Formats: sequence, C-alpha cells, structure tokens
Amino acid sequence: MVKYLYEVDIASADLMRDFGQRVGLLCQGGENIFLNGCLGAGKTCLVQGLARGLGILTASLTSPTFVLHAQYKGRLVLNHLDFYRLLDNPASSETLAIEEMLSDPTAVCAIEWPEALPALRQAPALEIDIAILSADRRRLTFQPRGPVHDELLCRLSKQDVAKKSKAL
Ligand SMILES: Nc1ncnc2c1ncn2[C@@H]1O[C@H](COP(=O)(O)OP(=O)(O)OP(=O)(O)O)[C@@H](O)[C@H]1O
Ligand SMILES: [Mg+2]
Repeated sequence: MVKYLYEVDIASADLMRDFGQRVGLLCQGGENIFLNGCLGAGKTCLVQGLARGLGILTASLTSPTFVLHAQYKGRLVLNHLDFYRLLDNPASSETLAIEEMLSDPTAVCAIEWPEALPALRQAPALEIDIAILSADRRRLTFQPRGPVHDELLCRLSKQDVAKKSKAL
C-alpha cells in the first residue's frame, strides 16, 4: 500500500496552533496523535490547537509533565499525556491504563514523548515528528498507522492541496 508522504513547514507558534486546530476539526473520535520532537519543539502548541478544534474552551493547556495525564471535555474528550518523565523511569502501559485511552472511540489521545513507552511503538496513531529549523520555523513529518490515521492524514493533506491551489 502506498503511504502518503506529507511534510509541512510552520513559521510561528500561532500557526502551529492553527494547524493543530485543523487536525482537531477533522477528528471524529478514536484518533491517537503521537508527537515526537525535542524540548521546545512545539508539541504542546500543537495540542493547544487540537483542543480548540475539539471545541475545548480552556485558557491554559500546558504539558502534563508531572501528572502525566490531563483530560479535557469538548465535542470529544481529549486525553493529553506527556511521558517525558518516563524517559529515565520506564513504566508499563498497564500501570497507565493507556490501552483504554488509545481505543476509546469517544476520545482523542495526544501523547508527547511517546518513545518513552516502548509498548506504543506499534500502536495505531498518527505520528508527527517536529523538527526545529530555526527559532520560529518547524518542519512536521507524518507517519500514519492504522486505517483511521491513514484517513485522517489523507483528509489533512487534501485540505492543504486545496488551500494551496486556491492561493494560486
Ligand atoms: N513554529 C513554531 N511552532 C511551535 N512553537 C514555536 C514555533 N516557533 C516558536 N515556537 C516557540 O517554541 C516553544 C514551543 O513550546 P512547546 O511547549 O509547545 O514545546 P514542547 O515540544 O511541548 O516542549 P516540551 O517537550 O518541553 O513539552 C514555545 O515557546 C513557542 O512559542
Ligand atoms: Mg510540551
């Protein structure tokens, strides 16, 4: 099967939030968004926009680095996880009840630092790698696993093509 190769450059934190919002607006429940990238890459900015796209009205959404998990309710539930603290402190996925969150059809699960939990390596998700190109510029690359995420990426990239052709 041919996978979409899709890459997006984003020039500011606000545009990262706008992009996250577009992802959120496309979500229908059951999506898992895994966010890879170093400290300050913009993972949380993207989740702030994702929350907006899910109709979540929260003034402050920050990385749940110490509590690991935060939950918000909007059009769908958003489970926001941050596993940075587990990089040096491996925990098992059972302890975190992660399987239930990943398979909840009424929720979207956004995970920062998913590489800290080896059990997530093959989990169905849209993996987004964020690379820092300069102080304000980020490059996003995508890898979908599973039909839900193939479809999500397909719809996202089609929107982008439509936007670009409208601008010409
Ligand atoms: N294009 C951009 N996209 C996202 N953030 C940007 C961009 N340009 C600059 N920034 C800045 O980079 C920082 C990104 O912070 P953010 O908390 O989202 O990173 P993070 O990847 O979640 O980090 P951590 O691993 O510490 O949780 C913010 O200060 C934001 O203003
Ligand atoms: Mg963060």
